[in-house]
Amino acid sequence: MAVIVFTSAAGAPGATTASLGLALTWPRHVLLADCDREPAQSVQAGYLRGMDHGGRGLMTLAHLHREGHPLAPELWRQTLPLAEGTDVQRRFLPGFTSPGAARLFEHVWPALGESFEALDPQGVDVLIDAGRLSTTGLPLGMLSAADVVLLTVRSSLRSLAGARIHLPTLRDQLAALPQQVAVGLVVVGPERPYSAAEISAQFAAPVWAEVPWEPRSAEVLSDGEREPRKFFEGSFMGRMRADAKSLSERLTRARQAAALVTGGAR
Ligand SMILES: Nc1ncnc2c1ncn2[C@@H]1O[C@H](COP(=O)(O)OP(=O)(O)OP(=O)(O)O)[C@@H](O)[C@H]1O
Ligand SMILES: [Mg+2]
Repeated sequence: MAVIVFTSAAGAPGATTASLGLALTWPRHVLLADCDREPAQSVQAGYLRGMDHGGRGLMTLAHLHREGHPLAPELWRQTLPLAEGTDVQRRFLPGFTSPGAARLFEHVWPALGESFEALDPQGVDVLIDAGRLSTTGLPLGMLSAADVVLLTVRSSLRSLAGARIHLPTLRDQLAALPQQVAVGLVVVGPERPYSAAEISAQFAAPVWAEVPWEPRSAEVLSDGEREPRKFFEGSFMGRMRADAKSLSERLTRARQAAALVTGGAR
């Protein structure tokens, strides 16, 4: 059970596509939360092809918080189905709908983070699409709930240059938190030209997932293009499924190790 934050530095390396692909193949119940502070409604307008959110999402949660309601009991009601008819529940929390909304959300992040953590007993993992890092990083209330923050990069020099500029801000933020939150990388299109191993060494950060460079497959997720036959059995989603499994197992091991340490300290 885990909360994973996906972010990016500059450009549009494919953070939304990666987090969506992982949510669609995640081995356990999962909530994909659109927490991009620069609202774009990418998942709703893209993969979900304009699905009406019926007023659900972060905006309603902000309203409820303002009125003094706890968010945890409301959170699930604010979600939409990402996929239906599977044993695993896959839900989506719609994001901001107006440009300035994130600014008014600053005091809501801690409560939202706690409501994500409260899904833990129900066996739900949360994948947060946090959008790009701003000059001040990411909201601390969001980071406080995270087990790991994954910076999405392409393997080009341009993408890596952006990551080099912004990663220290994120690392400083995480170092200031009372609990340990890991930093990892998601490499979109490894070997174009740098390999995942080279990128990992450059940033002294492990690569937690590698997404193959497949523009047409990516567009099914990012733009709601028609799914080719056997899309979910193909190499692109197959790789997502393998990455989702290894990510989930890695987080379970990390949690078990942390519990052992805490147990030993008692
Ligand atoms: N693995 C991939 N292979 C090829 N193209 C990809 C891949 N992943 C994403 N893309 C393409 O890159 C573009 C940007 O993707 P996406 O919206 O996921 O990026 P992002 O990092 O979330 O951007 P933003 O910062 O604007 O939110 C889309 O056109 C998408 O189809
Ligand atoms: Mg995005």
